[in-house]
Amino acid sequence: MLSINIEPISGNAIILAVKLLSDGKLVAFPTETVYGLGGDATNDAAVAEIFAVKGRPEFNPLIVHVSDVSMAQRLVEWNEAAQKLANAFWPGPLTLVLPRLPDSPVSLLASAGGDTLGVRCPAQASARALIMAAGIPLAAPSANRSGRVSPTTAQHVYEELGNDVPLILDGGACEVGIESTVIDISSDAPVLLRPGFIAAEQIEAVLGRPPHPNPLPIGEREANAPRERVRGIDYSEQQVILKSPGMLASHYAPSLPVRLNVTKPKSKEALLAFGDSVPKGAKATFNLSKAGDLEEAAANLFVALRAHDKPDYSAIAVMPIPEEGLGLAINDRLKRAAAR
Ligand code: TXA
Ligand code: MG
Repeated sequence: MLSINIEPISGNAIILAVKLLSDGKLVAFPTETVYGLGGDATNDAAVAEIFAVKGRPEFNPLIVHVSDVSMAQRLVEWNEAAQKLANAFWPGPLTLVLPRLPDSPVSLLASAGGDTLGVRCPAQASARALIMAAGIPLAAPSANRSGRVSPTTAQHVYEELGNDVPLILDGGACEVGIESTVIDISSDAPVLLRPGFIAAEQIEAVLGRPPHPNPLPIGEREANAPRERVRGIDYSEQQVILKSPGMLASHYAPSLPVRLNVTKPKSKEALLAFGDSVPKGAKATFNLSKAGDLEEAAANLFVALRAHDKPDYSAIAVMPIPEEGLGLAINDRLKRAAAR
């Protein structure tokens, strides 16, 4: 049964999709791996909407889909390993995690506040046609609700997201059917973050060394990196690199202390406010959302944290954020920032 928001791929459907995307709306689209829930990666509000629709209780970084290598080079610091892997596997099911360019136009929320960005050029013709027609990188996680399996048909997407996404492009069943391989090549020690369709051996053949397996869930790697040997290569030194914040840290940690649930800010603090009754007394105040809108607050969060992480202030104080919807992910991120 076709639903009103499912459109078979066609020139007109792509024109409609481009219109929605440029208005900051979401479009689910097929790739050779699984269907993605796409939005303009350079638009903070669109990226926040992706997290809201997925119902993720935390900000996990999103893969940014590009039409070719030159689009990727405008977003991330391209390196030799990236060029080799792109020559071998792009377009295709391989995601490259690289340092963000300092002036990368991609929303900080798509990197979950981190210094790196996952980029992938999908092989499916209609996916590339969409990105090319839109002319913008598309942030797109798998088009399922958080914690559920990735959809491989338009109907599966509809069953997951229903009418929460205005348009689902129907390109039939995905050829590959499992997600892309994710490899972090942002430092000299390649780390296989997620096994996928491209095998570790294929990557080894291109790079001339085996990628280090990711022993822990992303985010916990830095704190608990074990010292180990993989196929005779001692990676302990690289593990030390992984541990140092800022190298491969998947989350941005402010250097200032972060104080939560603040109702009385101190005179030297920068206050991140929420809602319309804002306490006075902070040295600077930035309202994450005057209207008390959690999506707007999520869209502003990482930009606001970075902008106020300055020696001019003694700490970043944050007003209480409701523990519901995207508030869960916002509070999860803030608690991590405050724990450091
Ligand atoms: O095949 C795929 O990769 C599909 C299609 C739609 O392209 N996308 C997909 O996205 O599976 P998602 O968000 O469901 O999974 C992305 C994975 C997550 O585990 C995320 O943590 C990791 O990639 N990832 C993305 N960017 C990252 C980054 N900058 N650093 C570390 N991990 C990253
Ligand atoms: Mg997924």
